[in-house]
Amino acid sequence: MHIAFVAPECAPFVKTGGLADAIESLPKEIARRGHQVTVYIPYYRQVSSHFPEKKVVISSITIPFQYYNRFVTVIDGGKHDGVQFYFIDNPELFDRETPYGTQAGEYLDNWERFGLFCRAVLEASKDLGVPDIFHMHDWQASMLSVYLRTVYYFDPALRNSGTLLTVHNAGYQGWFPPQTTEHLLLPWDIFTMDRVEQYNTFNFLKGGIVYSDSITTVSHKYAEEIQTPEFGNGLDGAFAKRAADLHGILNGVDYNKWNPENDGKIAAHYSPKDLSGKAQCRRDLLHAFGASNVRDDAAVLGIVSRLATQKGFDLTAQIIEQLSFENIFLIILGTGEPYYENLFRSLHERFPDKLSVRITYDETLAHKIHAGSDIYLMPSRYEPCGLNQIYSLKYGSVPVVRATGGLDDTIEEWNPEAKTGTGFKFHGYYADDYLRAVQRALAVFADKDAWQTLMRNGMLQDYSWIKPGEAYVKVYEEVARRRS
Ligand code: ADP
Ligand code: GLC
Repeated sequence: MHIAFVAPECAPFVKTGGLADAIESLPKEIARRGHQVTVYIPYYRQVSSHFPEKKVVISSITIPFQYYNRFVTVIDGGKHDGVQFYFIDNPELFDRETPYGTQAGEYLDNWERFGLFCRAVLEASKDLGVPDIFHMHDWQASMLSVYLRTVYYFDPALRNSGTLLTVHNAGYQGWFPPQTTEHLLLPWDIFTMDRVEQYNTFNFLKGGIVYSDSITTVSHKYAEEIQTPEFGNGLDGAFAKRAADLHGILNGVDYNKWNPENDGKIAAHYSPKDLSGKAQCRRDLLHAFGASNVRDDAAVLGIVSRLATQKGFDLTAQIIEQLSFENIFLIILGTGEPYYENLFRSLHERFPDKLSVRITYDETLAHKIHAGSDIYLMPSRYEPCGLNQIYSLKYGSVPVVRATGGLDDTIEEWNPEAKTGTGFKFHGYYADDYLRAVQRALAVFADKDAWQTLMRNGMLQDYSWIKPGEAYVKVYEEVARRRS
């Protein structure tokens, strides 16, 4: 089969979160299984910086809007690990500081940027190879199936292609004014509540949910959760309507990059058989965060994250005072919403001996935190999959997580009698429950033998892309069967 990935980001070219990691790895795994794989992403400034030499234009397209046309070129990104990359280029729309917006808010013309992206992918594929399946990711790619099943309905080249939408985060949907319908040259009859309309806005993700042949999300638990009002963000009804075609497939991780046995970004290597290098990684981490005086018997707690409401930092702020009485040191690396950036800066001023914060994006520090911390905190309000807790398992940094989405699917509560389990979980979104889960972890941390068993249990887990790759191929086959 030929699978075309259509996504708003892909590491190493452009990354704002875990989606970029998934789009870096899953296409490779599908190609490894013998399929033809193409990846389409916009040619943002961040992507162009990876191609300092002349860019290779492989195709040019004109995309019509209501009042004007836009000229688009398709850049050949080359073939890497069996995966062909194409970038959709329109400098006016994509050559900007950041992919989606600034701290002042999302770009107001995101409807146009991602509407154009989707339509350009359809047009480009007619030139470069129409796939059996368009595999779209998140709201930015969702217009592809809306265009395909409306404007392109009778297009003989495209009509047999199937579509799969993977929802990585239902908290981001792409809401725009109703007039978006005609600006994108879509028929007004799709602007109804059973199609793309939601509370009188044009909702990109809803369009993807309604018009795609099949839908996946990135964990089983999240696939169930988004059908409820608490997690559906207003789209629970739309998801529930598609329940028969909605599957959860847990993300994998790339152990070539995230493995303490050969990670080039950390101070020493270690493995489940020989944990000794971890102490050096811990010293190196504390040094990097200006905290070399932290006592050896203190537990180092780590966080690496986008600073967004989703991630549960208000709970962390609520327990910090009680935590300050424990023998701990907290290390935080993140960037994002100014509210949370300032919150952590002020907590650092209040508790300089108890926490250290870096408001920046730094991959090397991220690796050092997984390797050097004893406990990894992820109290998310919701978490479609979550990659950081899976990385932390591999590095023997024991996760304390809220039992939601992929966090619930990947972490098993420690059982002191059976000595099974990989971490600590709490259920309700309450500071008390969170604090108790951290205290359970600290109690076990004090018992070195039990702690090493717990670390090893996590380090031996396997979340590689092999099983998810197999599950996606099954979905592709099912979609293709229905289309033929
Ligand atoms: P999300 O996609 O919701 O942000 P995930 O856990 O799936 O959450 O993925 C987060 C990814 O982004 C991980 O690869 C993580 O290491 C990375 N990341 C987030 N913030 C930072 C940061 N400040 N510095 C380095 N890496 C970061
Ligand atoms: C989203 C989710 C995160 C998930 C990632 C990759 O950004 O917030 O939970 O791991 O996508 O699927």
